Amino acid sequence: MNPAAIIARELTKRYGELEAVRSVSFEVGSGEVVGFLGPNGAGKTTTVRMLCCFLPPTSGTASIHGLDVRERPRDVKWLLGVCPQEDNLDPDFDVLKNLLVYGRYFGLPGRIVRRRALELLEFVALSDKTHVPVQALSGGMKRRLILARALLNEPRVLILDEPTTGLDPQARHAIWTRIRSLRAHGTTVLLTTHYMEEATQLCDRVVVMDDGKILLEGAPLDLVEREVGRTVVEAWNYGEEFVHFMRALPGRLEEVGDRLYFYPKEGDHIERLFEERFPHQERLIRRATLEDVFLKLTGRALRD
Ligand SMILES: Nc1ncnc2c1ncn2[C@@H]1O[C@H](COP(=O)(O)OP(=O)(O)O)[C@@H](O)[C@H]1O
Ligand SMILES: [Mg+2]
Repeated sequence: MNPAAIIARELTKRYGELEAVRSVSFEVGSGEVVGFLGPNGAGKTTTVRMLCCFLPPTSGTASIHGLDVRERPRDVKWLLGVCPQEDNLDPDFDVLKNLLVYGRYFGLPGRIVRRRALELLEFVALSDKTHVPVQALSGGMKRRLILARALLNEPRVLILDEPTTGLDPQARHAIWTRIRSLRAHGTTVLLTTHYMEEATQLCDRVVVMDDGKILLEGAPLDLVEREVGRTVVEAWNYGEEFVHFMRALPGRLEEVGDRLYFYPKEGDHIERLFEERFPHQERLIRRATLEDVFLKLTGRALRD
């Protein structure tokens, strides 16, 4: 038995001329939480949809717990829980009915589906909304309901495509708590996100994609340390003398609009150095984050 929950080998998807996913290979270990990051159009959703058997790969292979997504889609779907990027709840049904109808696809006995549905509504804190029509739910409630729905078949592998996009901080943290709890129970999770803090908080490992390819992967804090270092200096309202001074320091300097970013090789003494040389320079000295890594790798140019 392979300990990997997800294996993708040279997975490729072409839409006509466009190669949306280009020979992507990766593994997700059993019980691991892995985050896919990348600007819009990077190919995250396309990759995820191939894993979920929603979209046939143009070439390459993918398997879930050793089951090939092309050869064994029905068995694969039993192992998976899926939260798609777009809300696809049934607007004609209330909260509970959305779960009951979905449970029927799995051929589970009605009694069992009902019991699980009520437990899951409790788990996602929607017990008091059981008979509310889904149109009346907030964005955060809808995402939680979709998460509950994804868990109905007690999946070993959970795939979440932007589970928290557009949610307020309370709703986002509520989802994070549920994901952590699932992880503690051994569920494998692959999620995509635009929120670097989310990836840092939840993921054992992140995979950065752009333009259909994997640029980099690793544990969030290792990547930060390796790619950016520990410290970032941001300065504004600066003069030429300051830029000159910064250029002479070992590290990477970047000017973006009216802001100067400096990623020092050695950040320990930077504060003292500034106090001595430019005590009045407006600046922020902060810890490097995954967002710094992301922007370094994928650039600052706007996407779609
Ligand atoms: N059904 C489709 N037909 C044609 N092009 C598509 C289709 N779905 C996605 N694409 C294109 O594939 C690329 C990757 O999209 P997607 O996987 O949705 O990226 P992401 O989820 O990272 O934002 C984009 O350029 C997108 O426009
Ligand atoms: Mg997407």
